[in-house]
Amino acid sequence: MSLLFSPVTLRAVTIPNRVFVSPMCEYSCADGVPNDWHLVHLGSRAVGGCGLVLTEAASVSPEGRITPWDAGIWSDAQVAAWKPIVKFIRDQGAVPGIQIAHAGRKASCDKPWNGGKPLARDAGGWKTLGPSEIAFGDYPAPRAMTPADLEACVAAFRHSAGLALQAGFEVAEVHAAHGYLLHEFLSPLSNRRADEFGGSLANRMRFPLAVARAVREAWPGDKPVLVRISASDWKEGGWDLESSIAFARELKAIGVDLIDVSSGGNAADQKIVLGPGYQVPFAAAIRREAGIPVAAVGLITEPVQAEHILATGQADAVCLARALLRDPYWPRHAAKALGVAMAWPNQYKRCDTGPLGR
Ligand SMILES: Cc1cc2nc3c(=O)[nH]c(=O)nc-3n(C[C@H](O)[C@H](O)[C@H](O)COP(=O)(O)O)c2cc1C
Repeated sequence: MSLLFSPVTLRAVTIPNRVFVSPMCEYSCADGVPNDWHLVHLGSRAVGGCGLVLTEAASVSPEGRITPWDAGIWSDAQVAAWKPIVKFIRDQGAVPGIQIAHAGRKASCDKPWNGGKPLARDAGGWKTLGPSEIAFGDYPAPRAMTPADLEACVAAFRHSAGLALQAGFEVAEVHAAHGYLLHEFLSPLSNRRADEFGGSLANRMRFPLAVARAVREAWPGDKPVLVRISASDWKEGGWDLESSIAFARELKAIGVDLIDVSSGGNAADQKIVLGPGYQVPFAAAIRREAGIPVAAVGLITEPVQAEHILATGQADAVCLARALLRDPYWPRHAAKALGVAMAWPNQYKRCDTGPLGR
């Protein structure tokens, strides 16, 4: 009996196994419109046997993109382009999910393989937005969002959730991690506002909770909403596990179904202690203390490791990123290692039969 390869049901959506594709920006869109690359990239992981295929961060607006080549979910052209990708994922028996995002003060950058630095205006960059005029490391300082900006941003998340639904996605994940806009509001390192959106923990959570609530309201009652958080800034005086547990309790109260527990990304001088499954203890604590399903992520690479995380009750699912880049068939290889039979697509059945089959 493998937990990794047992289904998990969130609301009325049953995900066939607990290997989730962690969101991964591909920086390969024009005008936020996904293309053949995304079909093959996400489609391969669906054929590879992942239960939930989450897209990369899809921005709610042009200025919310990390780079000009990020995916988006603000236009009808994007909906039309996501549709065949979503259909292909579903046709493989996987569940399609979308990560909905705004990059805040970490927007307007170059592609990582071009150095990933902030883009000047004349190179296609733009003025970024954030809770306060505090820069991330040596990035340009953002413009502090006005109450009208905040209202527009909540509306943009709501609108994007509606478009994602039109595209056929069954799971929506709100990106509140990695130093992007919602995390910036949560963390005292980036949020020094004097209004009701800054100061106390309750005030810092107010805007991210308004966004999560808007997405929850726009998303059908039979479909799940996930929220990805950074459980720690890995820096003294920053966002921490205790605050994350409080945030998870609030998210649960507004109907969020699962917390996807990552960490870091909001302090250029963070001191992360890396190691296999290094973020799993955060996920376990949130699951235990907030009583909400969680996904664990970060340096989960081995089938037995993934199975152990679930079997010891530390998480309800695992998200894999780089291991799935190296091997889109990771779930198939993991199933074999754990002694689980996993049906191949009809087109590939002959790889599993005959004297040279497995
Ligand atoms: C190429 C790449 C792109 C990523 N893009 C995103 C993203 O769009 N949204 C997000 O929440 N995390 C993103 N991440 C982080 C991953 O989802 C994951 O949390 C991280 O890589 C740790 O998991 P891993 O050790 O399995 O790679 C990205 C990671 C990689 C390697």
